[in-house]
Amino acid sequence: MADDAASVVLTSPVAVAAALAGMAEDERARWRMADLPGRPSPVERGLDIPFPYGWFPALLSDELKAGEVKPLRYMGADLVIWRGEDGRARMLDAHCRHLGAHMGHGGRVAGDMLECPFHAWQYDGEGVVAAIPYAERVPPSLTRPCERQWPLAEANRMIWFWHHPAGEPPMWEIEHFPEATDPEWTDYEIHEWRVYGSLQNMAENGVDTAHFRYVHGTATFPTSEMIWDGPRRTSIIEAGLDTPKGRVNSRIEARQFGPGQTSTRFTGLAETLLVAAVTPVEKDEVRVRFCFTHPRAQTEGLSAMAARGFIHEVCRQLDQDKVIWDRQRYLPRPVVCDGDGPILQFRQWYRQFYVG
Ligand code: FES
Ligand SMILES: [Fe+2]
Repeated sequence: MADDAASVVLTSPVAVAAALAGMAEDERARWRMADLPGRPSPVERGLDIPFPYGWFPALLSDELKAGEVKPLRYMGADLVIWRGEDGRARMLDAHCRHLGAHMGHGGRVAGDMLECPFHAWQYDGEGVVAAIPYAERVPPSLTRPCERQWPLAEANRMIWFWHHPAGEPPMWEIEHFPEATDPEWTDYEIHEWRVYGSLQNMAENGVDTAHFRYVHGTATFPTSEMIWDGPRRTSIIEAGLDTPKGRVNSRIEARQFGPGQTSTRFTGLAETLLVAAVTPVEKDEVRVRFCFTHPRAQTEGLSAMAARGFIHEVCRQLDQDKVIWDRQRYLPRPVVCDGDGPILQFRQWYRQFYVG
């Protein structure tokens, strides 16, 4: 446990400061989402490894209204997602089984079905062709569900999809955070990035003790209590912070449930919940949206300032990490030293989410 306000005081020089210094806010927002052309291939960077399995965020729930169709790209796959008139979201591989049109561009919802824009074939949520408007009968092979299924669930104001490279059905339920749907808590404040690296390298960052000093400039190496529990992982940092009102204890609890569900709860000085939507797009690209919520009542005074400070610090750290992640290789057998934090333990824990 870090029992020291110094752990949040920034003193040492930050390695990547030069890359970020002097950026105006709008320039930074563009930088966070910009392409990174000419980067080495995933093979060259050791990133050509399978995607891990688990639940991953697809969209925020309110980004898909009943009757809406959208194209998506995740897990190196072209996908189409739609919400039927019944309110349920469904997702399929995007290309039509007829002549291969991308149904996310121009497709429409017919009742609860997805209608292809090319010849109006209609699909149910499992990819069964339920109707062909100009044919007497559907070819028998198309009355069977698609081989690859994308089970969906909604929780925490997000639509989640289950990905498993061998097609196994969901192995656990998504964790619900009461705050995320509590009307007394704010709508999400969203900050987004495109990171040109792997999900695993990003997740490892939380246990990489030494980088906090050299990348983020923390004065000490933060220590946290780690709990490894099947597909779950929790790290807890408690710190006493000196404030004008005296010393206040704060707690940061970061949780990971499978490779695709991560959240951070900041409590004590202020209340804030971060639900992280971090989803692989390609082997070397991850879509990142950090969604923050806090109690509506927490609008002014020290708590509100602390909540703002927490959000600012989390985003600042992500900017700094991005500079590293965008160019980092994945080394399957890294050499680590004492003081590095439980990197090897993390890797052993993470290995459970790969097939084979
Ligand atoms: S390509 Fe989709 S209906 Fe023909
Ligand atoms: Fe970091």
